[in-house]
Amino acid sequence: MEILNGKERASILRAVKALETGEIVAFPTETVYGLGAVAENPYAVAKIFEVKKRPHFDPLIVHLDGPERLKDYVSDVPGEARQLMKAFWPGPLTMILTKKPSIPDIVTAGLPTVGIRIPSHPVALELIGTLQRPIAAPSANPFGYMSPTRVRHVARSFADRVPLVLDGGDSAYGIESTIISFREGGVFVHRHGAISVEELSEHVRIVEKTRAPDVCESPGELPYHYAPMKPLRLVNGPSDARHEASSYLAFRPPGEELRSRHVRILSTSGDLREAASNFFSALIELDRDDVDIIYAEKLPEKGIGRAVMERLRKAARKHPPADGPQPVE
Ligand code: TXA
Ligand code: MG
Repeated sequence: MEILNGKERASILRAVKALETGEIVAFPTETVYGLGAVAENPYAVAKIFEVKKRPHFDPLIVHLDGPERLKDYVSDVPGEARQLMKAFWPGPLTMILTKKPSIPDIVTAGLPTVGIRIPSHPVALELIGTLQRPIAAPSANPFGYMSPTRVRHVARSFADRVPLVLDGGDSAYGIESTIISFREGGVFVHRHGAISVEELSEHVRIVEKTRAPDVCESPGELPYHYAPMKPLRLVNGPSDARHEASSYLAFRPPGEELRSRHVRILSTSGDLREAASNFFSALIELDRDDVDIIYAEKLPEKGIGRAVMERLRKAARKHPPADGPQPVE
């Protein structure tokens, strides 16, 4: 894989050429790195599923560089959507809207809807703007693994399977976009993400989940996602983390001594945004061969902390606790 400086025009032109010829290209966004293909090219999009080993029932998000061409891809944009576009686009908010036939079925896994977002990262915007076509892109990680927030994460995962990645520096948010749909005159949150519920509710009414809790509202809402290879346990603090062959993910500097071999602190000042931006890279670093378990400290569930906790809970569900006393969740 070639790593190209995304700030250089020549790199953008190389990436555009690759996309135009049906290749897939990894690129930075303000949330996490994406693995992109021209959304209107089903053969190119198929490569994304293949390279990520992603099941075909899990639809991709389509990225645009501005709202002008939205009407070519979606019909029926509710008033709430327009309001939120003004407030949060470009930025980390994905809206699920009714799709037009210009979006191939492979992108949406056969659904009548498509998730659309306009990223705010300048490299992503320049890439889409130069290409002048929408880019379908999931996060640039193998299916089920943690999302990449550094260019080296992408290079490590897809060294010989993706021809090039544009380097746009470390992802500012470090957590994926918030995914919403529109129902009952309000907004339903499918995935908590970089835009918090508090921020959304300044503009629209949030509709709580009305269906049975075990119903998947979105095909990608699988119970295990974003998971490290090693088992992960949620803990309240260092005293719950007794095993020595372990890693410890701390929200803020721990007040007590830690037994774990490897420790990462998400924020020295206990700031949730800083914690979110370091989250995936810290967890990737703690997922090591010489540990049996990763302990992850709970974060306050407000603002972007809710998105981090949603991902930690999913990661913890991948390897449920074995018999015997376990730290409380
Ligand atoms: O921040 C992000 O959203 C990043 C960057 C690259 O833009 N992308 C990302 O994509 O996280 P991905 O594929 O890793 O996650 C997209 C999620 C999936 O869980 C998928 O099921 C859901 O969005 N999704 C996409 N289209 C949908 C639709 N039409 N209806 C319901 N869920 C949808
Ligand atoms: Mg993903």
